Amino acid sequence: MTELLFKHKILVVDDEEANLRLLQRVLRSQSNYEVITAVNAQEGLAKIKENDVSLIITDQRMPGMTGVELLRASLNVNEDCIKILLTGYTDLEALIDAINEGHIYKYITKPWDADELKLTVRRALEAYELKQHNTALVGELKDAMKEMELLSLGTIRALADALDAKCDYTAGHSLRVSQIAVLIGRAMKLSPDELRDIELGGILHDIGKIGVPESILWKPGKLSPEEKEVMSKHPEISAQIIGDLRGLKRAREYVRHHHEFYDGSGYPDHLVGDDIPLGARIILVSDAYDAMTTDRPYRKAIGHDGAIVELKKLRDSQFDPKVVNAFLTIGEESAAAINDLITQEFSNSFLGWHWEATGTVPVFDPEKTGKKYKEYIEMKEISAGEKKN
Ligand SMILES: [Fe+2]
Repeated sequence: MTELLFKHKILVVDDEEANLRLLQRVLRSQSNYEVITAVNAQEGLAKIKENDVSLIITDQRMPGMTGVELLRASLNVNEDCIKILLTGYTDLEALIDAINEGHIYKYITKPWDADELKLTVRRALEAYELKQHNTALVGELKDAMKEMELLSLGTIRALADALDAKCDYTAGHSLRVSQIAVLIGRAMKLSPDELRDIELGGILHDIGKIGVPESILWKPGKLSPEEKEVMSKHPEISAQIIGDLRGLKRAREYVRHHHEFYDGSGYPDHLVGDDIPLGARIILVSDAYDAMTTDRPYRKAIGHDGAIVELKKLRDSQFDPKVVNAFLTIGEESAAAINDLITQEFSNSFLGWHWEATGTVPVFDPEKTGKKYKEYIEMKEISAGEKKN
């Protein structure tokens, strides 16, 4: 028999004082039990409230509240403690109820045998300690998972910052793609989980460009076939970089497939239609819109209206028509309207998000968003100033 780790309080409830004394004597012979008693269920409940009880042993037949009723009521006060019912053979119905409700550990029939009772109590307390230990472990695991989520977030930020540092023209690109993608996802009534993954996928979609030489990234003219080949590896490299980061499994798929075209002419896997993950189809439209409305080393921006014309023209071939249509519902009007929406979106975006260990409920942290948002606005102002000069 393993040693018990703690001293335990046992509550014994019985309306017959002689029984109480007898039970007390048997249990007190064990050194690490503290036995408290009650002569009826009401008093018993009061003692459960006042004491940290590990085990309740109660008689079934008592005037007023029965043992089963007491055990049921005790669940509201102390759910974890172990419960033993003392019954006569005639209390079969009560016994069945208690067992079916699942809150008794064991029943002991009267008259009980002292050694058997001691053993049952001992086993019950071992079960209690195991339960407590498991609860503590689950708590620790949850804390560790939360820590991991935060670490992953830190890694994502570092990766996004590293890409921005390398490709000046993309500064803010990943953020905008990510936010526009979330707006489209919201218009398509996607779940918060999917929106989160789309946002993360948007942030990280081009991260693989970290490995592309500047001579290619910054080339003002058309890329040679060899250079194109290098460039076209970036979705796969992005997905590899994300690797097995916790909580990014779906985002990684969106990233890998963000250059797949609806008609199957994209890359890397030439997926067709709805075989392309929806998040990837959304990021593609968002990415295309942002690319067309910003200057690139190899071509000038074609502006909002030009981008809308292109998106409409390529719906069905490059783009999923459902995604383009959703985008048009939010963004056809004007670039200013989209920018306003992005600005609003930032107030509850990933950069201000952190989420609980369950990973389903995004929690808004204004401090983080405030800082990042300010950086983003500053970045926009700097690039606007540079364009004027
Ligand atoms: Fe890309």
